[in-house]
Amino acid sequence: MKNCPIYAIVITVKLYIRGDKGSLSSTNPKDIALQFRPSLNWEELKMALRGVLLLLFGVLLCVNVDGLQAVQVVGNGTLQLGYYRTTCPQAESIVKEEVAKALSTNYGLAAGLVRMHFHDCFVRFTNLLESIGQGCDGSVLIDSTSNNVAEKDAPPNNPSLRGFEVIDSAKARLESLCSKVVSCADILAFAARDSVQFSGGLPYQVPAGRKDGRISQATETISLPPPTSNLSQLTQMFANKGLNQGEMVTLSGAHTIGRSHCSSFSKRLYNFNTTVSQDPSLDPAYATQLKQQCPNSSVSANLTVPMDPRTPNLLDTSYYSGILANRGLFTSDQTLLSNASTAALVQQNARNWWLFQSKFAAAIIKMGQIDVLTGSQGEIRANCRRIN
Ligand code: HEM
Repeated sequence: MKNCPIYAIVITVKLYIRGDKGSLSSTNPKDIALQFRPSLNWEELKMALRGVLLLLFGVLLCVNVDGLQAVQVVGNGTLQLGYYRTTCPQAESIVKEEVAKALSTNYGLAAGLVRMHFHDCFVRFTNLLESIGQGCDGSVLIDSTSNNVAEKDAPPNNPSLRGFEVIDSAKARLESLCSKVVSCADILAFAARDSVQFSGGLPYQVPAGRKDGRISQATETISLPPPTSNLSQLTQMFANKGLNQGEMVTLSGAHTIGRSHCSSFSKRLYNFNTTVSQDPSLDPAYATQLKQQCPNSSVSANLTVPMDPRTPNLLDTSYYSGILANRGLFTSDQTLLSNASTAALVQQNARNWWLFQSKFAAAIIKMGQIDVLTGSQGEIRANCRRIN
């Protein structure tokens, strides 16, 4: 906890003072101070004032939500708030500090960790002998071995998923403090929550007590929705996990932070269908911009674009205003306008920041409880990359 406020301040300065772009080239305090030069320009003054307030906010971010007004849980009773209160009281603050530290050098990891939690929760393992669904069980963290290709190496995750080292460093600290007590699945759920909060989302509390799964198979990532999904496919895939259409629209709002590889949407630009090469539902000006960032000839593995070009590091409502302007990056984003009831939810989320934020917190808490292993099920891994 000691260093968390320092990291949080660096993150907040990067996020807000430079117009949310996270584009400071240096984290040197001297360079950051130069951004604060006095100016009579009203816009800059407003920006500076906002910066000071946000610095204070940055420090507040390091306070665990127990004492703050947090979104309450609609839990299934198997997980508990404050689960590690007696067994490893520093668990949540250590995770938060590791997240803050990582974000202070690479802000994109916030998005990476939120997505990783989603991908952990949505991937199940079931077979006839062991008919336990395994959702948020930390299976996404397991490394492949010579005789098993793990989830993390399946195309929806590799090479795009990021942030594994953040979980490793939190786990290493927790193992030295309270060995085999805090599960990797819980660490990931805490890290996603902290990432949401450091991105400007509402604080919320994470019920914990997940156990770690022992199985991770690349083939199981079939339950993750592809970016080409239409509304009925998305609705079905979320319903399979117990999430309704409203929760799906709200959780898709996570696409207001982070990046996408060009390959995830280039079909919409160059190869849409047999009659038109460019997706007619995509704003033509935005398509032109995307084509510049993702030239067809080099749609290579490592070219990326921000998912929400206006505020790529802020969990705000501009994902929804983007969709209303036909600037949803994926088919799966733009398809939310294709039906009257989801379109109404997009409009509602675009207009109402508080409503979106509170719905988002409630939905991600619910997502974090999908098919969890608890009690004597599963294990507490000593190393998140390997089963014990
Ligand atoms: C609705 C169905 C969804 C689809 C089809 C989808 C698909 C994708 C794809 C293709 C990417 C870009 C990966 C890349 O090329 O680098 C992405 C990024 C991302 N997704 Fe989703 N996603 C969905 C829902 C969600 C949900 C529910 C969350 C979290 C609650 C989420 C969080 C994110 C985040 C934060 C990123 C940015 C990751 C980064 O910057 O590393 N997504 N998603």
